[in-house]
Amino acid sequence: MSLLKLLIFHPIPMLSAFTGTAHGYYQYTMHECVYSTSDYSDMVFLESYSFNKVVDLQFNSSVGKFVGYTEQGVKYAENFNKDPAILQDAKAAVDTYCRPNVQLDDTSVLDKSVKPKITLRSARQAGGSRPAVLVCSAYEFYPKKIKVSWLRDGKEMTSDVTSTMEMADGNWFYQIHSELEYTPKSGEKISCMVEHASFSKPMITDWDPSLPEGERNKIAIGASGLVLGVIIAAAGLIYYKKKSAGRILVPN
Ligand SMILES: *[C@@H]1O[C@H](CO)[C@@H](O)[C@H](O)[C@H]1NC(C)=O
Repeated sequence: MSLLKLLIFHPIPMLSAFTGTAHGYYQYTMHECVYSTSDYSDMVFLESYSFNKVVDLQFNSSVGKFVGYTEQGVKYAENFNKDPAILQDAKAAVDTYCRPNVQLDDTSVLDKSVKPKITLRSARQAGGSRPAVLVCSAYEFYPKKIKVSWLRDGKEMTSDVTSTMEMADGNWFYQIHSELEYTPKSGEKISCMVEHASFSKPMITDWDPSLPEGERNKIAIGASGLVLGVIIAAAGLIYYKKKSAGRILVPN
């Protein structure tokens, strides 16, 4: 899976002191597990200490020690790095904290994922020098994280692509829309590719340029009308023939 997974976010707020009525101080620690592979091989653990929105110091498991960013943060970092117990705990956190928690989160989210319903339609046909516009939409999916991209003969197209943000439907599901402006060439294959946690591999929908659905409907309605017209005309003709033939048989 190529999607960047969610960060786990466990703030531990500590309100340390109040002065007066309008102002407060806010000190908090944040633990994050950052990863993008399903085997968690690239898992990074971050532990950040902040005071009033300013990060004082941070432990990054790729670095392996605490690094201070402010005057007092540098002092704290020095002390933490000198304490073998603290350093040991922080270094082990990828295995003791991140992997078990991420596994729990993954199983609770991934087996509740809902596949998107994908539609691919033409918003504008090419005419003269005006490029064509296709819209690929994904509806009713969960979780929110999704990637919609365009392929021309299997290769990703990057120019003239516009995407909306994932939009909440208000019922735990999301939708997203992506537009492609392109100049059609004969023999090419344009596809919309959707990557989502509910799919084991990317879902590719090929564009069928033969006739857009609206045009097909118009032709179907026109054809039905024509057939109906021919039947009524034929019935009328037969009726007229019979009537006029009957008239001749009746002598005056
Ligand atoms: C953690 O440290 C590594 C190595 O220095 C760096 O590449 C990465 O960006 C750091 N992560 C964060 C979130 O700062």
